Amino acid sequence: MMALKGLVLSGGKGTRLRPLTHTGAKQLVPVANRPILYYVLDNLQEAGIDEVGIVIAPETGAAIREAVGSGERWGFKVEYILQDEPLGLAHAVKVARPFLGRDPFVMYLGDNLIGSAISTFCRDFVAGEVDATLLLKRVGNPSAFGIAEIDAQGRITKLAEKPKEPKSDLALVGIYFFSEKIHDAIDQLKPSWRGELEITDAIQVLLDHGGLVSSHEIASWWLDTGKKDDLLTANTVVLDEWLKHQIDGEVDSDSEVTGRVRLGQGSRVINSKLRGPVVIGENVRIENSFIGPFTSIGDGCRIVGSVLEHCVLLENARVEGVDRLEDSLLGKSSAVLKNHGSHHAYRLMIGDDSEVLL
Ligand code: DAU
Repeated sequence: MMALKGLVLSGGKGTRLRPLTHTGAKQLVPVANRPILYYVLDNLQEAGIDEVGIVIAPETGAAIREAVGSGERWGFKVEYILQDEPLGLAHAVKVARPFLGRDPFVMYLGDNLIGSAISTFCRDFVAGEVDATLLLKRVGNPSAFGIAEIDAQGRITKLAEKPKEPKSDLALVGIYFFSEKIHDAIDQLKPSWRGELEITDAIQVLLDHGGLVSSHEIASWWLDTGKKDDLLTANTVVLDEWLKHQIDGEVDSDSEVTGRVRLGQGSRVINSKLRGPVVIGENVRIENSFIGPFTSIGDGCRIVGSVLEHCVLLENARVEGVDRLEDSLLGKSSAVLKNHGSHHAYRLMIGDDSEVLL
């Protein structure tokens, strides 16, 4: 099989997935305790791709490099490609041209999660004679995405980037297959109204020049975590479908673990109940507590005398003496503590863009 290269876009504006990424790249926000980017790399690995270029931005590039390293965990040869400014997805491809050469490639947006493998799409693309293949999914809010119109054979006839009056509800999922012809199309582009070189426009140029662009509508779920901020949903879906039971930490004899639970090294569960699917990172302490389904607890967290369900806690968060916390997202080193004082006033320190439902 002709080798496909992988191009992962992990640059971007550094506009934040507020308030969770004040310190990092949105591609590194964890879902079920793993950065979204890792699922992207898993999917490329599973498709047999081993040469991967990762586009990074000056502000967040170091964090991405640290998280992925040489890529040997996935058996990849990784090349980091610095994009000085976030001038668009097509601009990222332009910057990556020395890495891509004339090889066909799959471009994968680093903040997109899909519930299926891409290996069959890779095989079809390599075996077929089209110039590009796009993955599509029907959405309820098409104005927020690139939108495709297709004919009866699934061939793309027209594209529009975030149209005000969408002609279809088929959104472009952030995974694209390209032959080298995309480079000529990109060379003809002018910046869009938002000042970016749009990959959607580049594909439209391909079409206008008689290029063939096929599509697959994906059957699985798709979460554009960078956009919708629906990390709790992503967390629930990933825990539900992918979590494997593995206990590396210590569970004392007064505790009870049911369902699929992953407990990291150095973590201790004391007189508590864990009901999966639940993932708990390393060096976490859980004492006199109940942790209910669809909860992810990052490294170094501490939960004492509390009940949690359907929550995401990032590293070093603390919950103490809280009767029941549901559907909540706690950022790094944040704390929710019971007020033991004489009068029961709420005492809060809340970061920018936070929300507290009392
Ligand atoms: O998520 C799917 C959508 O992704 C498509 O439906 C749209 O057609 C496509 O344009 C794109 O839209 P977004 O507005 O969501 O793209 P965003 O600016 O969020 O960038 C997507 C990823 O690419 C993100 O991980 C950051 C990275 N990126 C983005 C830009 C603009 C770069 O690496 N370099 C860039 O210049």
